[in-house]
Amino acid sequence: MSAFFVTGTDTGVGKTVVSCAIAAALCRRGMRVSVMKPCETGEGDDAEQLIAASGHPHNLKWVRPYAFRLPASPEVAAAHEGKSIELAPIVDAFHALSRDADVTLVEGAGGLLVPIAPSFLMADLARALSLPIVIVARPSLGTVNHTLLTIEAARARGLTILGVVFSRRAHAAGPDEETNPEAIRIHGQVQILGTLPSVREPGNIVELADAAAQLDLEKLIHRRPR
Ligand SMILES: Nc1ncnc2c1ncn2[C@@H]1O[C@H](COP(=O)(O)OP(=O)(O)OP(=O)(O)O)[C@@H](O)[C@H]1O
Ligand SMILES: [Mg+2]
Repeated sequence: MSAFFVTGTDTGVGKTVVSCAIAAALCRRGMRVSVMKPCETGEGDDAEQLIAASGHPHNLKWVRPYAFRLPASPEVAAAHEGKSIELAPIVDAFHALSRDADVTLVEGAGGLLVPIAPSFLMADLARALSLPIVIVARPSLGTVNHTLLTIEAARARGLTILGVVFSRRAHAAGPDEETNPEAIRIHGQVQILGTLPSVREPGNIVELADAAAQLDLEKLIHRRPR
């Protein structure tokens, strides 16, 4: 069984699109894929998108144990409803989902240092689940700094980094985009797993699975993190 945690350099960088593309591509190869979005805030439907891409009707309560309406960090959004987030239901759901899966993919919310509870950040959740991370980053200007900061924060917390995936939202690429992956590979001492091209319909599972051909999926699945 392989499992990994998909984080990003920021909110809105393409974690869900990349996660769905990976899930759809692995499902197409005949692998049993489980997915999780442990804490979802705001009006998004990441959990439903992940379930659709996984090719299996996973139980939404396990995939997404916590959902809050306020578009804020999980800690703040939970407090806004007079609630708090506990680790145990997330760990239990992860074990239930990953039991019969070949690959389990867990999408964080926002970036690594987003608060989930007092003294508990997204990075601590990846640690608590014993998962290595995949960092999703923008290909465009500013990404070298954001990605290197994320790498440094991850290593400072003892997380293993499987690699960096870029998600290209716009068709046009800026002049720095050609050199950014190599700069991050060298300065961050990380593997670059590829760039997901801009997809026309991010909800189209076939298109996502096709786009994932640009990613080095072998590096994600031939690993036993636990
Ligand atoms: N490769 C891509 N092709 C087309 N659109 C993309 C691509 N990557 C990201 N986007 C678009 O960018 C927006 C943000 O992407 P996405 O929802 O995957 O980000 P996220 O990191 O999961 O955000 P959150 O922190 O809210 O979970 C979406 O509208 C998505 O469709
Ligand atoms: Mg998302």
